This record gives sequence, structure tokens and C-alpha cells, in this order.
Amino acid sequence: MTDLPRRKLIMLPGPTNVPERVTAAMLRPTINHRGPEFKLLLKSMVAKMQRVLETSSDVVLLSASGTGAVETAVKNIVRKDDDIVVPVFGEFGGRLADQAADEGGNVIRVASEMGTAPSPDLIEDAARKAKSLKAVMVVYNDTSPGTTYRWLKEAADIAKAHGAFFVADAVSIVGGDELPQDRWGIDMVVGASQKCLAAPAGVSFVSVSEGLKKYVSRNRPSSSYFSIPKYLEFGERGETPYTPAIPLFFAFDEALGMVLEEGMERRVARHRATASALYSALGAGGLDPFVEPAVRSNVVVTARYPEGLDDHAFRSAAEEKFNVVMAGGFGQLKGKILRIGNMGEVQGHHVLSTVSAVGNALNMLGRRVDVGGMLAAAEEKLAALAGGR
Ligand SMILES: Cc1ncc(COP(=O)(O)O)c(C=O)c1O
Repeated sequence: MTDLPRRKLIMLPGPTNVPERVTAAMLRPTINHRGPEFKLLLKSMVAKMQRVLETSSDVVLLSASGTGAVETAVKNIVRKDDDIVVPVFGEFGGRLADQAADEGGNVIRVASEMGTAPSPDLIEDAARKAKSLKAVMVVYNDTSPGTTYRWLKEAADIAKAHGAFFVADAVSIVGGDELPQDRWGIDMVVGASQKCLAAPAGVSFVSVSEGLKKYVSRNRPSSSYFSIPKYLEFGERGETPYTPAIPLFFAFDEALGMVLEEGMERRVARHRATASALYSALGAGGLDPFVEPAVRSNVVVTARYPEGLDDHAFRSAAEEKFNVVMAGGFGQLKGKILRIGNMGEVQGHHVLSTVSAVGNALNMLGRRVDVGGMLAAAEEKLAALAGGR
């Protein structure tokens, strides 16, 4: 690539805009990954992740995207013929179920229509069907429809009552919504750097409860790169088993520092306020929320396109003319919905720029909408932001 790409406002459901302080951290000189500086770096990242997740669990850091961390969860827990319950209410739930089946698991899918999520009662019914339940694995925020599973604690309680592990794929939500791992009884949280934690892509993690730690050390997985027991053994002396992506680790550590400086409570409240502003403004422009209110995401804002609106033409206009990059639907939702990442460093001014791009792009395509009205609808909800940012 010869020319630098133009800087655009990235409102994708990952990757997200990365603060300069975080990007700059990648310019630090290389360090020895078997030396004392790396030990300190790893210790710092683990301690910060534990604060973000409100957990005393160990945290394993991987040089891989989120899929690597999901694979780590599956490969270390699922064995041939194990009964695994997976709610499926979006593409990522489907992928998780497929990955568990690839390991030979007997996967019991609890499906519900896109835009909804299965109630905990349905998870309980599925758990009862299992001969011997090994794990319940839930995508906390399915990024494809923009659905957050709001009964995570209830689902974890069900897993516990059946003597099973509880795993949450929180790749697209960790750092943007509540996730107190220990209080909710979660054995493993799976996450990644490039979404609500606002770091560059390429780092992911799994947190491992004491119970799960005992299980994996006695039942080692068939994977080397994603072997949790190996990471835990090396972690004891402040190392990773293989060469880590050091510049990305520097960036992730910096990003976690920024998350903790803001504080998780304020950060979650900020995401809630900006999400509410986006939903409200989109509604004022005739783009109604796709997901039912009880499980609507605060980090991936989705809306149905008005009849006949061309997804590609609309998003191209928003990007080319207004410099705002958003995502469309995929899988069975291709062409039907708009997806806006409300993640990481998103502030009121990002929301207003996005709303203005949406409204003006609609007008350019011949849909008459009141952009001023949309902005006013957003402004009203943004008043909830601390300091009016
Ligand atoms: C819920 C969820 N799980 C897993 C993944 C996979 O992560 P990655 O694309 O970083 O491999 C994604 C990516 O969007 C996701 O949203």
C-alpha cells in the first residue's frame, strides 16, 4: 500500500477507533518475551483484565483474534460425546455450536428467531434433555442481529445446578456492558481486543475459573497453540508458551489502562446513553430497531431498513460523502438491517456525526427525512452523558 488510507469515523461492530495513546504504545522498543520487562507487562495485563471482569480467575492472553479465543474455549472443554447446550439467536451462536460439534460434542441447540433470544426456561429444558451436561456456552452479545443475552446469570445458575461449566463468548461486548464474572458465576469469559476495549485487533483472552483450571490440567486438550494448561504453566513464570505479538500487547495494556481510568460503571453508562441516542435518532428517521427491547444491544445498534432501501448504496453514500463507516447485515439478515458499532471510545460527537451521515445519505437516496429532528432526538438522550461529552 503506497498511500495512507483517509481517516474515517469507524462505527463498525469491530474493529473500532483506536485512541492515539493506544496506537502510540505500539512504537515502544521490542522487548525479550523471556525477560523481566515482559513479565511485568503480562502481570499488568492480567491484573487489569481481572478488574475489568471483576474476577479472581486467571486470565490467559492469546496472540489471536476472537475466533482463536472461542476455539480455545471449545477445544479445552468439549470432548467427544459431551452434551453441550448452546442458545442460537444469531450467526455467532451458530458458529459456536458448529465448533463444539466439530470437537465431537453432542450439541443441543436452543434456537430462537433473529431479533429475540431464548428464555432461561428453554435452556433449563435443554439441560434436562442432556444425559450428562458438560457445558452451557452462550454468546453474550450476538453481533449479527445486535442481541444481548440479558439472562446470563440465570443461565449460569442453570449450568451450575446441572454440574456443568458456563462459558460466555463476550468478544463483542466486554468493556461495553456489565460483566461481573464471579458474581454471575461464569467459569470462562472469552473476549477480544478490537471491539469495546478499543485496542487494535490481534489480542484475545479467556478467563479460567478454579474449577475449570483443575479440569483442563487433568484433561489436556489436543491443541498446542490453544492449550490452556500450557498457558497457565508458562503464566506462572510470567511468560507465554509461544512468541506473543508484543506491540499488540503494549497497545492492549494501554487500552485496558484507559478503560480502568474511566471506570467500568461510567463506561457502561456511556455506552447505554450513546446507544439510546442512536436508537432514538434512527427511529426518528424511519429506521426502527430490529431487536426486541428486552434483549436489545447497547454495543451493536441495529435497525431495519425501510422497504426498498439499497444497503450497499446507502452505506457507500454514508462512507464516501460523510466519512462514516457502518456495517450491514450478514447471513440471513444480508441487505435487511443496518448495524452500527457503538463500541469503545464512542462519545456524543461520534453519535451526532453518525446520525447526520445516516440522515443525509437517506436524503441523497431520495428518502425525505428530517435530519434536524433526528439530531434533536439523539441530543435529548445524550444529555445523560456525564459532562455532556
Ligand atoms: C460474538 C463474536 N464472537 C466471535 C467473534 C470472532 O472474532 P474475530 O473476528 O476477532 O475472530 C466475533 C467477531 O465479530 C463476535 O462478534
